[in-house]
Amino acid sequence: TDNIPKEYVDVVIVGCGVASLYTALMLPDNLNITIIAKETYKETNSYLAQGGVAAPCDKENDMKELFFNDTLTCGRGESDVEAVKILVNEAVDNILNLENLGVKFDKDKTGKYLLGKEGAHSVSRIVRAGDFTGKSIMEVLYNQVEKSKNITIRENIFVVDILTYKNKCVGILVLDNKNIKSILSNYIILSSGGIGNIYEHTTNAKGINGDGIAMVLRANGAVSNMSYIQFHPTVFYDSSHNGQSFLISEAVRGEGAILYNENGERFMEKIHPMKDLAPRDIVSSAIIEQIKKQIAPCVYLDITHWDEEALRLRFPTIFEFCMSKNINMAEDLIPVAPRMHYFMGGIKVDINGQTSIDNLYASGECSCTGVHGKNRLASNSLLEALVFGRRIARNIESKYGKSTKIDKNIRIKNNDSSYKILQDRSSITKWMEQYFGIDRTYYSVKHLETKINNILNDTIEIDYCSRDDIEKINAVMVIKAIINDELNKKLSKNNLINAN
Ligand code: SIN
Repeated sequence: TDNIPKEYVDVVIVGCGVASLYTALMLPDNLNITIIAKETYKETNSYLAQGGVAAPCDKENDMKELFFNDTLTCGRGESDVEAVKILVNEAVDNILNLENLGVKFDKDKTGKYLLGKEGAHSVSRIVRAGDFTGKSIMEVLYNQVEKSKNITIRENIFVVDILTYKNKCVGILVLDNKNIKSILSNYIILSSGGIGNIYEHTTNAKGINGDGIAMVLRANGAVSNMSYIQFHPTVFYDSSHNGQSFLISEAVRGEGAILYNENGERFMEKIHPMKDLAPRDIVSSAIIEQIKKQIAPCVYLDITHWDEEALRLRFPTIFEFCMSKNINMAEDLIPVAPRMHYFMGGIKVDINGQTSIDNLYASGECSCTGVHGKNRLASNSLLEALVFGRRIARNIESKYGKSTKIDKNIRIKNNDSSYKILQDRSSITKWMEQYFGIDRTYYSVKHLETKINNILNDTIEIDYCSRDDIEKINAVMVIKAIINDELNKKLSKNNLINAN
C-alpha cells in the first residue's frame, strides 16, 4: 500500500452534513481543510431534517432546566449528564451563530421565533424554517463553505478507511473513481452519519450505511450504545416502497394531528399523559401494538381540522409529498408506520468530540456523546451536531501547532478488508427489519446473530474490493456490534427486549 498516491491537508472531514460543514466553518481560516463526501450535500440526513433545532430561545416560557430535564427524561436516564448540560447551555449561542452565517428561521412580525412543538418537549422550543429546516441550514452552510478559500469540498468520493499509525489517526484512504488514494492529515473528523440503510425501511438518505463507525471498529476504537436505535413513529406508509421512506414530521402532531387505529380509535390517550406527543419510543411501540391487533399494516394521522391553505403554508414539503400520493392532508388521513430513523449509539467521544484514537474526532450521528441516552428527544440531533461540532473546532484550534505535524514518511497501512460477503444486501436489511425491530426479543436477536455469523463464515478473499463490497462489509460489522451490545445489555432469556 505504500505506493498509494498521497495528499496532505491540515484537517480532513468525512461526510457532508451539518456537523461537517459547520465544524469546517468554525475552524481557524488559516487551516487547510478538505471535506470528503460520499454523495452530495443534498444526500444527507441533515438536508432531509424537517422539524428543526431544539433550543430554549423563549425566555418567558422556557428555561435551560426544563430543556435539560426533558432531554434526560426522554433518554430514559441513560444520558451523559455533563454532555447534556453542555448541549443545553450552548444551544442558543449556536442558533445565533447560524443566523449570523445567514440562516433564516421562522419569526413573527416582532422578531420572536415561531417555535414548533414535538414529542416529549414540555414547551414549544423547536426553532424552525417551515418543514425544511435542514435544507435551509444546509444551503447556507454549503454556500459559506464554497466561499471559504481554505475549505475544499470533494463530493462523490468514497472513504475506504481511516489510516492509523501507533494508535494515532494519520489520515484516510479513499476510492476516487476506482483509484485508491490517501489523504494524510493532522486531524481527522468523522461526520459520516448514522446507519439507516442497514434496514430495509428507513427515513435516512440512501448512502447512510454506518461507514465511519465500521472504520473505527476496524481500528479497534471505542464505540458505545450500539443497540440504541430510534424508530420514528410517523413515516409515510407505502406498501410498494423500500429504502428511503418519507417522514411525516412530529411537528405535525405538534400542531394537533392525532393518531387513530383502523377502527378510528384514538389509542395514545390511554397510554401516556402526553398522548400523541409522548416520547418517540412510547408512540412507536404503541403503534406496533395497534398494527399487531388490526388488519392494516399502518395507523392513520389526522390533521383534517386544519384548512388546506394553512397546511400548505406550515408544511409545504409534507403537503406536496402527500398530494403526490393522492392524499390531501386537509381532507384525508395519512397512513403512517414506525421506521428506522436515528442512531443514538456510535463512535464514543468525549465532550470535545475526541475519540479513543489520537487525532481522530467524531461528530453528528456517527458519534455517541451520550446526550441522547436510550431515546433521543426530537430535534436534538441537529443541535448536537452544532454544539459538539463547534467544540471540536475549538479543541483543534487550541491544540494546533502544539502537537507533532504529520510525518510525511509514515508507512501507510490499510486495515485489511479485502474479503467479500456473498450474501445479497437486501436479505441482510430484511433480517434487520424482521429480527431487530421495535418488538425484538432475545430469541429474534439470537436468530439474527446466527444468520450474521453464517454469512461471515462464508466470506471469500478477493484482491480488490468495490464500493458495494466495502459498504456491505461495513453494514455487517455494524450489525454485529449492534447484536453484541444488545446481548450484553440484556442477557435474560425471559426478558422482552425493548427497542429504542
Ligand atoms: C421530525 O421532524 O419529526 C424529526 C425530528 C427529529 O428527528 O428530531
